[in-house]
Amino acid sequence: MAKEPVRVLVTGAAGQIGYALVPMIARGIMLGPDQPVILHMLDIPPAAEALNGVKMELVDAAFPLLKGVVATTDAVEACTGVSVAVMVGGFPRKEGMERKDVMSKNVSIYKAQASALEKYAAPNCKVLVVANPANTNALILKEFAPSIPEKNITCLTRLDHNRALGQISERLNVQVSEVKNVIIWGNHSSTQYPDVTHATIKTPEGEKPVPALVNDDAWLKGEFITTVQQRGAAIIKARKLSSALSAASSACDHIRDWVLGTAEGTWVSMGVYSDGSYNVPAGLIYSFPVTCSGGEWKIVQGLSIDEFSRGKLDATAAELAEEKALAYSCLS
Ligand code: NAD
Ligand code: LMR
Repeated sequence: MAKEPVRVLVTGAAGQIGYALVPMIARGIMLGPDQPVILHMLDIPPAAEALNGVKMELVDAAFPLLKGVVATTDAVEACTGVSVAVMVGGFPRKEGMERKDVMSKNVSIYKAQASALEKYAAPNCKVLVVANPANTNALILKEFAPSIPEKNITCLTRLDHNRALGQISERLNVQVSEVKNVIIWGNHSSTQYPDVTHATIKTPEGEKPVPALVNDDAWLKGEFITTVQQRGAAIIKARKLSSALSAASSACDHIRDWVLGTAEGTWVSMGVYSDGSYNVPAGLIYSFPVTCSGGEWKIVQGLSIDEFSRGKLDATAAELAEEKALAYSCLS
């Protein structure tokens, strides 16, 4: 029997990530090839005409799984009945800007949209915040939507995770699909800690540890980390626009694994509400290694953290605590 369609909200749908993301969702890349969807697209009035153009193209593309499109500038209409909400709308970072510069523009958007989601989304709606500062926008959304369970509010660090997989794959000249269990700890910012301590490569002789195969501690603790940390800025420099196709693809990966589950023995990185695991202060949205099953994520426990990693985990937590304070000061 055909499945009931799932309503998926994309905010900022007339923007460049939105333009890359909505066809992926309509093709089943996010929720699976047998899951019909109804797309809810929200943008602001100045973008209404462009949003309508995206809707026209969705019709023209004749996606078999796409059972309806709501294109609106009304947050209530956009949020009504959605089971998945991908929050892309916001003010993007431009060349030379730090995330903190865009904080005040974005936290007030997320406070307002929290209320609309809380009142009108389907119960148990899963929320993914993409717009920067992603962790702190998600935290604001959580704080101002107290009836949405905190486990349902996440932010995107899967793009950083995928970037780390990509860098290791290039360095070792192996397929990216053979690399697994990198970790992004902390903030989706230049203080994030891309960690390969527990990462492995699949080989015909079994799984082998990435640190031993790379065999270059200086690169792993230096250029590898900074390349992943700075990749967003490098894309902006090259394209004069922030990443879009890779962000959209990673957002699909994040929701797909959350809803449909991670593969046995594999974890992914998600920005989730900290419960104090790994001595990360509770009350921050922080990127951890997680496994997903039955629509729920769980932080991977018991990984060893050496002194180098400890310093990196703490530094990115400190930045998030600072961002949280700054966000609250923008709201007051
Ligand atoms: P964009 O400027 O092309 O699109 C943003 C869209 O949001 C625009 O259409 C704009 O009109 C809309 N918008 C603004 N305020 C809104 C509101 N209140 N409600 C609904 N829509 C609103 O930007 P983009 O390149 O698509 O990037 C979107 C966001 O994603 C940016 O914040 C960017 O920094 C962030 N980003 C995050 C990651 C990540 O990995 N977490 C990666 C890439 C980009
Ligand atoms: C990215 O990582 O590509 C985005 O977050 C862009 C940015 O604003 O740095």
